[in-house]
Amino acid sequence: MILGLLKEFGTETRVALLPETVKAFTDLKVEVLVEKGAGETAFASDADYEAVGAKVVLRSDVFAKAEVLLQIQPPASEDKEKIQNSQVWISAFNPLWEKELVAFFQKKGITTFSLDMIPRTTRAQAMDILSSMATVSGYMAVLEAASKLPTFFPMFMTAAGTIRPANVLILGAGVAGLQAIATARKLGAQVQVFDVRSAVKEEVMSVGGKFVEVEGAIEDKAAGGYAVEQTEEFKKKQQQAINDHAAKANVVICTAQIPGRRAPLLLPKEAVENMKPGSIIIDLAASSGGNCELTKNDKTVVHKGVTIIGQSNYPAQKPVDASRMLGKNVLNFMKLIIAEEGIMNLNFDDDIVKGTCITHAGEIFNERVKSVIETK
Ligand code: NAI
Repeated sequence: MILGLLKEFGTETRVALLPETVKAFTDLKVEVLVEKGAGETAFASDADYEAVGAKVVLRSDVFAKAEVLLQIQPPASEDKEKIQNSQVWISAFNPLWEKELVAFFQKKGITTFSLDMIPRTTRAQAMDILSSMATVSGYMAVLEAASKLPTFFPMFMTAAGTIRPANVLILGAGVAGLQAIATARKLGAQVQVFDVRSAVKEEVMSVGGKFVEVEGAIEDKAAGGYAVEQTEEFKKKQQQAINDHAAKANVVICTAQIPGRRAPLLLPKEAVENMKPGSIIIDLAASSGGNCELTKNDKTVVHKGVTIIGQSNYPAQKPVDASRMLGKNVLNFMKLIIAEEGIMNLNFDDDIVKGTCITHAGEIFNERVKSVIETK
């Protein structure tokens, strides 16, 4: 196999493989072409890649010679036509939303894998880029809130008196939410948490958060561990409870999402207006509409003294460790399609390979993507 590592574009600072992971590919007898400067923003030089056996080439050569093209972001519009139908495209392109891109890949007959669609199974954990990036986001969300908050996070007992700890409210206790709880607790805050899945209660408590229960949530085992849409009655009860807690909070970290749908609206404008001036809201669900009504994706808004930060790419602020985690995930996934002597083997009998493949041989291969796209 010839694997082509592309340089990211725009504000992205991560790279899909650091040299340390490229070494694992060359050990598997995969030839690795690295676009010149691909690792620059993650502090990996071309010489570092060459030292582990990669060939550093121009972008046009990567497109011309690689069998598999690897990039974190979806292809830029000017690159789409450069991908040949004999090539395999691997990235994270949010196929549950990106209907036009999926249609493009399908029409052109390109085989694509979207790493954000890796099944949430025990065997796939080591390949799960969503978990890796959610870990970075949960951590960074708390650090940003702590630095922007006009008060301290921990309790301080000083000669000038006692300072009370910050109250942090976390909406959604998936991977990002749990990391946010753990980080906020390490900084000494008091942490309250909402989620619709009762299974997370113990996990929340194990990292030091207080789980706020609202009765009547719908759970669906068939949703693969994910949350599902709730009834109007539950939403009303939950809304009241969230409003009450938000009014007492200094920081709200929003992480609640439902795959393939708009993020649930949990913090309406009135709830924000009841918060204390100086409070901070970090909305990690910003790219799918936000949990807060006032969130603007990739923007900071100040409303009546409350700062609402809609940052949707915190991992780009930690490019070295984020790239390290991504690279390990990519390697573990790609081992499933690399046979002996580094030959590519698209083994669709493997549930992870099948579940992550979005388009193949002119078809939409992934059933979930197919059904969501057909109903949109
Ligand atoms: P996510 O990013 O889809 O959502 C974040 C959290 O928001 C979830 O805990 C969800 O229940 C919650 N949420 C959704 N709607 C809500 C609402 N209306 N109110 C309050 N909370 C709401 O979740 P993420 O982080 O991707 O993980 C979801 C679950 O997937 C995990 O807890 C786990 O069960 C499973 N998982 C499995 C993995 C594996 O086995 N490989 C890896 C990672 C996650």
